[in-house]
Amino acid sequence: MMEEFTEDNAPDKAFIVLKPKGPVSISGSFEVTLEDGSVLEKREKVSICRCGMSQKMPFCDGAHKAFAH
Ligand code: FES
Repeated sequence: MMEEFTEDNAPDKAFIVLKPKGPVSISGSFEVTLEDGSVLEKREKVSICRCGMSQKMPFCDGAHKAFAH
């Protein structure tokens, strides 16, 4: 089970996990820079789509589950 971080206990590093047939899960201390160069506010955890099927790109919306076996 992945540890949930808050602003009080976030480490100074990020943890990146490639989910089998799913997204890249990132937790810890990081920022996300989008394709247009804008930076999302600092987040504690995010799942980035790597299947290309999400309707909420660049984030995973669970659409990958439709074709994962
Ligand atoms: S990885 Fe989950 S929708 Fe693409």
